[in-house]
Amino acid sequence: MTLSITLVVNGDRHDVSLQDARPTLLDVLRDRIGLTGTKKGCDRGQCGACTVLVDGRRVNACLSLALTVDGADITTIEGLATGDDLHPVQSAFVACDGFQCGYCTPGQIMSAVGLIAEGDAGTDPERIREGMSGNICRCAAYPGITAAVLDAQA
Ligand code: FES
Repeated sequence: MTLSITLVVNGDRHDVSLQDARPTLLDVLRDRIGLTGTKKGCDRGQCGACTVLVDGRRVNACLSLALTVDGADITTIEGLATGDDLHPVQSAFVACDGFQCGYCTPGQIMSAVGLIAEGDAGTDPERIREGMSGNICRCAAYPGITAAVLDAQA
């Protein structure tokens, strides 16, 4: 039985047919819709590379069945910039060297955008580190990431 869902991704509506209930939001975003900015790291909820916003809340796309977010408003890293103008959090990551290899960066940025939008980032570096603790950086660019979250709120 084919299942049909509708996702609104970065403001664009996508009607997606699924052969069964198993595809994750991450796989649908990358393989069906073609938005590969959202990264697959661990594929089991441990690294945060797949972070997107679902109805404004941070979600690990690898842990979310696409079927469960039918009708949701989803924001991915591709939806942040406006033309050539980076989102303030993206600009802050550039200004503060909040990355090294860059693989985790889309998830880090989406998590930072969500954290700030939740009004829970604050200006205490320890609090920011706690708020961003679901996002792992194998290069350990954490000082720059924390600085970027601070800078984006300045
Ligand atoms: Fe989803 Fe690692 S790929 S948390």
